[in-house]
Amino acid sequence: MDRVFVTRMIPESGIKMMKGALDVRIWENKMPPSKKEIIERSKGCVGLVSLLSDPIDAELMGCLDDLKVISQYAVGYDNIDVQAATERGIIVTNTPGVLTETTADLTWALIMAASRRIGEAERFVRRGDWKVAWGPQMLLGNDIFGATLGIIGLGRIGEAVARRSEGFEMRVLYTTRSSNERTERVEKELNATRVDLDTLLQESDIISIHVPLTNETRGFIGKREFAMMKKGSIFINTSRGAVVDERALVESLKSGHLGAAGLDVFQNEPIHMDNPLLKLENVVLVPHIGSASFATRSKMSTMVAENVITALKGERPPNIVNPEVLNNE
Ligand code: NDP
Ligand code: DGY
Repeated sequence: MDRVFVTRMIPESGIKMMKGALDVRIWENKMPPSKKEIIERSKGCVGLVSLLSDPIDAELMGCLDDLKVISQYAVGYDNIDVQAATERGIIVTNTPGVLTETTADLTWALIMAASRRIGEAERFVRRGDWKVAWGPQMLLGNDIFGATLGIIGLGRIGEAVARRSEGFEMRVLYTTRSSNERTERVEKELNATRVDLDTLLQESDIISIHVPLTNETRGFIGKREFAMMKKGSIFINTSRGAVVDERALVESLKSGHLGAAGLDVFQNEPIHMDNPLLKLENVVLVPHIGSASFATRSKMSTMVAENVITALKGERPPNIVNPEVLNNE
């Protein structure tokens, strides 16, 4: 039976599917395996089910001669050296689509919490600072209704975030590199306008970024971009921490140029306890929970199972990231 190593306990749905077809070994510890431990445990495995925090690089692949498929339990795969995998004939798959709506929901939770100072207000109540029944100037925030929403990267999640803005009667601006069916649909159905990045930064009240982390998008939003944003605007990141220069973000939040931020992702995860973001009131911080609903994580689990099982049968897996690897055979 083909042997597969799963680097963390994922929901039962996918484990059950894999156990029906494969010899499945699972890392059962709460703390993730190190690269060395992944290599040791994956020896002799033809499949590897990885998480976004696992460093799946060329060195690791070089130690695993039998490896045929890496099935990532995430849509983002910036932790995997896909080029090295392709060169070695290893198939890489991911979990697109099933987590789109759940991640868009969380993005909106952050938009609302950051705009209306929900985290700060909650801390205020719990601390016992609510001494006056109702304050005409107490904890004032920004309106969402009628505001301009700027989406950087109008892919699956970017579109789902834009769709949720309809009830708030927002003007929607977006950027992407290419026009496609999605951009046409969004322009028609949501009256969204494609603009260049600088225009989006200058005209949006709320900016939400949804690009994958690539060489091109690393540090995409930095000092120059924060300075271009409207004073008091809101910045949301549920993509990857490294698309933003976190130091520039902190400076902009501290100076009050940026009104507030809502962040699900960080340059270093878990966040270090000396990270200056932790000291700022005008930022809402959550621990990379964009796709964290019971139903979605279960669907991601069946998707990784389907991907790994199909690939090991010698068939084209439904969510292949490097299809060119099949042509090289
Ligand atoms: P998609 O591939 O559907 O969308 C990404 C979009 O970004 C595309 O429209 C792409 O369009 C655009 N894009 C890529 N590069 C650039 C660029 N340089 N400038 C402008 N636009 C660009 O991915 P998803 O929407 O499914 O996911 C997006 C990312 O969200 C994932 O890669 C992942 O990192 C993150 N994510 C985070 C989650 C969380 O838990 N916080 C959950 C799920 C996803 P084009 O190529 O035409 O420019
Ligand atoms: C992803 O899928 O890329 C997320 O970060 C976790 O679901």
